Amino acid sequence: MRIGVVQMKPSFGAVEENIDRALATIDQAKSDLWVLPELFATGYQFRSRAEARSYAESIPDGPTTTRLIGAARKLDAFICAGLPEIDRGKVYNAAVLVGPDGLVSRYRKIHLFFHEKELFSPGDLPFSVVDIGIAKVGMMICFDHFFPEAARTLALDGVQVIAHPANLVIPLYAQLTMRVRALENGVFTATANRVGEEARADTTLRFTGESQIVSPRGEVLVSLSATEERAQAVEIDPGDALDKALNPLNDRLADRRPSFYKTLN
Ligand code: ACM
Repeated sequence: MRIGVVQMKPSFGAVEENIDRALATIDQAKSDLWVLPELFATGYQFRSRAEARSYAESIPDGPTTTRLIGAARKLDAFICAGLPEIDRGKVYNAAVLVGPDGLVSRYRKIHLFFHEKELFSPGDLPFSVVDIGIAKVGMMICFDHFFPEAARTLALDGVQVIAHPANLVIPLYAQLTMRVRALENGVFTATANRVGEEARADTTLRFTGESQIVSPRGEVLVSLSATEERAQAVEIDPGDALDKALNPLNDRLADRRPSFYKTLN
């Protein structure tokens, strides 16, 4: 199968135009699974909880998920993308995985970053892995990369490809941690970051690009630039994520000693 990342520069608040931009960028390549950035259609720097709420959509019937499902049908592909979700009065920094038949899965960011804590409710759904027929896929959003428990939970549940929409503002960290997450769990990871700047509050945010796809051996298969809007995909064998052996005597998951990790719970 092919997995791909879409690196783009949304204009804050221009939802329809940003979706057009994302879908036009996707047209640059072919993939079975595309990963788009966190909050790809709204932009990132909301000024208040009320503003985040005003852009939040219900899933799956909101306009962004509806358009993504239409695109997935047309492309005969799966698409993972970040958007603000509203559900029963709460607003989440969420992501959807959609395919030709509609919504496959949703995720609500569990580890909120910095001012996101003032804008969103923390995720209240477990990390989940879904079988899309060609691979088992799970989602994390941006800052989740800092918590090895996130990727490890997905790996223990059988994930083969971690889709990781991001809006990274610190260079290098996630490019480093996601190589480690891929290697230590023996999974593929696809981090789709955005580029450009937003200056809607005191701090100007500069998004760092360098979207990347990593193999279960920690090899960087795709690495985009820090500034370019681009979609790039790579052929992978998701079966490579089933073999956790490092040598005939060591297995990355089976060798775990959970009875010594009790403080994790
Ligand atoms: C982040 O979690 N958007 C840095």
